[in-house]
Amino acid sequence: MKAAITCVAGYVPEDVLTNDDLSKMVDTNDEWIKTRTGISQRHILKDPTKATSDMGAEAVKTLCKKRGIDPTEIDVIITATVTPDMLFPSTSNLIAVKAGATKAWGFDLSAACSGFLFALTTGSQFIQNGTYKKVVVVGADKMSSIIDYTDRTTCVLFGDGAGAVLLEASEDENGVIDHIHHCDGAGAEFLCMKAGGSLNPASHDTVDAKQHYVYQEGKSVFKAAVTGMADVSYEIMQRNGLEGKDVAWLVPHQANLRIIDATQRRMGVDPEKVMINIQDYGNTTAATIPLCLRDWESQLKKGDNIILAAFGGGFTWGSIYLKWAYEAKS
Ligand code: UT7
Repeated sequence: MKAAITCVAGYVPEDVLTNDDLSKMVDTNDEWIKTRTGISQRHILKDPTKATSDMGAEAVKTLCKKRGIDPTEIDVIITATVTPDMLFPSTSNLIAVKAGATKAWGFDLSAACSGFLFALTTGSQFIQNGTYKKVVVVGADKMSSIIDYTDRTTCVLFGDGAGAVLLEASEDENGVIDHIHHCDGAGAEFLCMKAGGSLNPASHDTVDAKQHYVYQEGKSVFKAAVTGMADVSYEIMQRNGLEGKDVAWLVPHQANLRIIDATQRRMGVDPEKVMINIQDYGNTTAATIPLCLRDWESQLKKGDNIILAAFGGGFTWGSIYLKWAYEAKS
């Protein structure tokens, strides 16, 4: 039995932070940000009383409405995030209660920008082995909660958002076909949040040293991402006998347009078959891939060969090959 995505939904907060807004906050400019990253704006969750679970719950509520199911029918919620509301309880717990998924159990999965892919593979197992009928996979991050808006090297990159997919048993040969996932802890030093965990618990010193924000050595991450994301996408194509022309859509993690372009070229996929919305949302970490699926849903056809690909903190990286399982009602 295959697991199939049978519905997608997403949520981005209303407030927008443009490149020009950022150029008034730090020494940057629209031209630098656009050429180096492809980003024009990002959405920011400004309400201080709202967190990652609120965005995730909105996505799950929309998902249920679109699919015509009651939230109580959901069996499991898996949330990929690096910005949980709290270290515990899990954000999945909070999404479940806020979305009315009172019969679901769930847990969070931490794999940074590859989180959605790792969670999709994990969730698929419950469907494939027949344990559950309805599994929801959420990718959600309130990145603005861990960004230092005085650091121009990171604050221009990230935005807030959430996406969710429903997994159910496939009625035919469509669904999730294959995955290749990797992690390499040697990459931890280049992209991490240094404090707030058991290594460096929160203290006055960690706050003063700004260790509760995203730390990134951009160039090192860039180099590893270009190779990692392109290689793993090419490998999954080869393993499944696919050529560039067979791929209907590449759905890449949206961290940097140059990384996306390198992956597209390596795969030999036409540029117009690549989902790109980085200009509108920036890097929303675990939410980028489901937000792409949401934005392109009306163009997806049953049986389309789709490759999802990501690279992120950890390092973590991977790709998933799936055959799209439904056509959206217009
Ligand atoms: O999703 C998680 C995984 N993360 C990624 O995939 C991100 C990977 N890394 C990147 O996307 C890129 O490395 C960045 C977009 C973060 C940076 O681009 P870059 O081409 O690697 O630039 P750089 O870090 O080498 O910086 C080039 C110059 C530097 O100035 P000097 O030393 O050449 O004088 C920076 O100080 O650009 C400067 N710079 C900026 N200038 C204007 C850095 N940030 C900015 C900025 N505005 N925001």
